Amino acid sequence: MKNPPPKKSKTQFFCQSCGHQSPKWLGRCPSCGEWNQFVEEEVRLSPSASAAELKFDGAPLAIDDISATEGERELTGIAEMDRVLGGGIVGGSAILVGGEPGIGKSTLLLQMLHNMAATGLKVLYVTGEESAKQIRLRGKRIGASSKNLLILVEVDLENILRHIREIMPAAVVIDSVQTMYSDLLSSAPGSVGQVREASGRLILQSKKMCIPVFLVGHVTKDGSIAGPKVLEHMVDTVLYFEGDSGHAYRIIRSIKNRFGPANEIGVFEMRDDGLREVSNPSAFFLAERPEGAAGSVIVPSIEGTRPILIEIQSLVSPTNLGMPRRTAIGVDPNRVSLLIAVMDKICGLHLGNHDIFLNVAGGIRVGEPAIDLGIVSSLASAFLDRPIDSGTVVFGEIGLTGEVRGISQIEARVKEAARMGFTRSIIPKTQSRDKMPGEGMKIYRISSLRELMAHLF
Ligand code: TYD
Ligand code: MG
Repeated sequence: MKNPPPKKSKTQFFCQSCGHQSPKWLGRCPSCGEWNQFVEEEVRLSPSASAAELKFDGAPLAIDDISATEGERELTGIAEMDRVLGGGIVGGSAILVGGEPGIGKSTLLLQMLHNMAATGLKVLYVTGEESAKQIRLRGKRIGASSKNLLILVEVDLENILRHIREIMPAAVVIDSVQTMYSDLLSSAPGSVGQVREASGRLILQSKKMCIPVFLVGHVTKDGSIAGPKVLEHMVDTVLYFEGDSGHAYRIIRSIKNRFGPANEIGVFEMRDDGLREVSNPSAFFLAERPEGAAGSVIVPSIEGTRPILIEIQSLVSPTNLGMPRRTAIGVDPNRVSLLIAVMDKICGLHLGNHDIFLNVAGGIRVGEPAIDLGIVSSLASAFLDRPIDSGTVVFGEIGLTGEVRGISQIEARVKEAARMGFTRSIIPKTQSRDKMPGEGMKIYRISSLRELMAHLF
C-alpha cells in the first residue's frame, strides 16, 4: 500500500496592509486596494496546546447574574488619558495605541505605568524595541522609578505570557506588537500572521485573567495601523496619536471605544520631562491666534464630549496657473470644494481662479459638519481681505442650496465660547430653544448663507 504523501504545512497569502487572506498571490488587494502587498505566510492548522490552555471554560449565565458594577475602572493618574479611555481602564480590556514613530507612545505609557505604580499597583512594561537601560534613561527623564514598575525586555510571546501569568500585574504594556514573535509560526516578526497571533493570545489571556493590556502599534505612511486592520477589530479600544513630532502638542483620540465615547480627545504637550496634560485645550489652540488677520475664524467644535475652540485659517490669492491650487489641511478637501461651489452660486463670491489654502491651526483634524460655516467664513474673509470681528465664533452645517442647518450641542458650544471671552455667536436658526448664556454674548441666528455676510464683519 502506498504511503500517504507527507502532510505539507498549509500556507496562505496575507495582505500586509489590511490582513486580507487569500489562497493565491494577488497583485492588488481586493479588500483595501493596495498593490503588491501579498506575502505568503504559514497558517497554523491545529490550535496549539498553549492556545487550548487559554480557552474560557464558560458556562451560560443569566445576564443579571453577571456582576459588572461601574467603578471597577483603574485610574491612570493622567486625567486626559482617563478621559479618552472613558473614565479609566476597564479590567481585562485590550487597548491599541497607534501613532507615528517618535510621537510619544512609549513615553505616555511609561508615565501612565509610573503613576499606577506610585499608587502601589504592580505593573509590567514589556519592550521588544529598547534595552532595559534605555527604558531606565527615559524613566529618569519623566521621573519614573518604583519597585512596582517592572520592565521586561522580551520578544518571545510564550515567555511574555508566562511572565504575565506569574506576576499578575494590574496593567501590561506591550511595546510594540510588531516586535513580538511566536515560535508556533514560521513567519517573521511584524508580519500579519505574527501580529495577529501575538495580539490574539495576549488579548485572550488578559480577558481571562482580567488584566488590562495596552498594545503599541506602529503606523504606516498613510496613517493606518501597520499590518492588520484585524487588530482594530480584536481590541476594545483604539487610541491614536495625532500631531507631528515637529510640534510640542500631541492629541490622543479614541477611534473606537467599547467602554466610553468614541472620538474623545486628550491633549498633551511634549516637554523635557515627558508629556504634560493640557487641561484647557481651547486656550491652548487659540494661544497663537493672529487677531485682526483676514482669513482667521474661530469655530467651537465638539471633540468627543467636550467643545473645543479651534481656529480655521485660509489664504486666497489669484492663481498664476491654469488650474488653481486647492489645499485643505485638517478638514476634508472634498467638503471644501463643495463649499466653494456653494459660495460661488449663493453668495456670488467667485473663487474659481484663485489658489486656496485652508488650514486648521494646531494640527487638529476636524470631521464634523459644524465647521462648514467656519470654512465659508474664513474663505470669504480671506477673499475679501476683511478681518472677521475677533470676538466672533461661527458654527453650523451648510447644505447645497446655501441653507444653514442645525447641529448638535449648540448650547455647549456657545457656553465654551462665552467662557473664553467671545461676545458674538453666529449659529443656525433652529426650532430648539436651548438656554444660551445670557450676558455678554450676542447670538445671531441665521438660516441661509446670504445672511452670513451681514453679521460677519
Ligand atoms: P517616544 O515615546 O519614544 O515615541 P514612540 O514610542 O511613539 O516612538 O518619544 C520619543 C520622542 O519624544 C523623542 O523625539 C524625544 C521626545 N521626548 C521629549 O521631548 N521629552 C521627554 O521627556 C521624552 C521621554 C521624550
Ligand atoms: Mg516607542
